[in-house]
Amino acid sequence: MISFDKVGYSYGGGELLSDISLTLAPGSFHFLTGPSGAGKTTFLKLCYGELLPTSGRLTLFEGEARSLSRNDVAMVRRRIGVVHQDCQFLDHLPVAANIALPLTVSGKEPDVADLEDLMTWVGLRPLADALPPSLSGGERQRAAVARAVIMSPEVILADEPTGNLDWEMSQRLLRLFVELNRMGKTIVIATHDMNLIRTTKGQVAARVLRIQNRRVQLAGADL
Ligand SMILES: Nc1ncnc2c1ncn2[C@@H]1O[C@H](COP(=O)(O)OP(=O)(O)OP(=O)(O)O)[C@@H](O)[C@H]1O
Ligand SMILES: [Mg+2]
Repeated sequence: MISFDKVGYSYGGGELLSDISLTLAPGSFHFLTGPSGAGKTTFLKLCYGELLPTSGRLTLFEGEARSLSRNDVAMVRRRIGVVHQDCQFLDHLPVAANIALPLTVSGKEPDVADLEDLMTWVGLRPLADALPPSLSGGERQRAAVARAVIMSPEVILADEPTGNLDWEMSQRLLRLFVELNRMGKTIVIATHDMNLIRTTKGQVAARVLRIQNRRVQLAGADL
């Protein structure tokens, strides 16, 4: 589905990521760890075609990343939902409209019942008409998850989704990703939080990708 074959990436200086060979199989659940600045966000950007490899081959669904047309890239983006590290919203639009935005910008009318179900699932139904600046950190993250899944993507990439959340809210958010994985979605979550990884591993067959010495490799079971 997303497959790296000796992929390297450089922003212009030396290589930040080198010689990555791995596959994110359909239905898999991965955590991505590594120190700040190691390249977690960069790796995720490669996964959704925001950045192109500077060496090696990266396959996104059926196509090689560097040979995708603009249309192909748009298709890839539709199949991958992203929860960004600093989730941004349109502050003048209510939460419900922000969550539905990927649909409305692609010219589709959100189904009211579906949107309500989605907001109930993330626990934001009572805040449907609130404006984003009034949300707490955990509420913002849950809104970002809802927005990432509204197009029914096959893959969900989340960049430090629990970064500013307390332990209870982090676990609550992680449960959403576990549920999505049980529905068959492929999940990748970048996080520093080893406790969260350990706790989640009890609920789902999650594997850990670690960025170390510019390589992204599967960590052993020693976590
Ligand atoms: N657009 C860019 N141009 C040049 N260098 C960049 C760019 N974006 C990121 N970098 C550099 O690449 C390195 C990796 O950045 P990245 O954001 O991928 O790390 P990260 O692992 O996500 O870090 P954090 O845990 O702090 O979010 C950093 O040294 C960063 O300064
Ligand atoms: Mg980052």
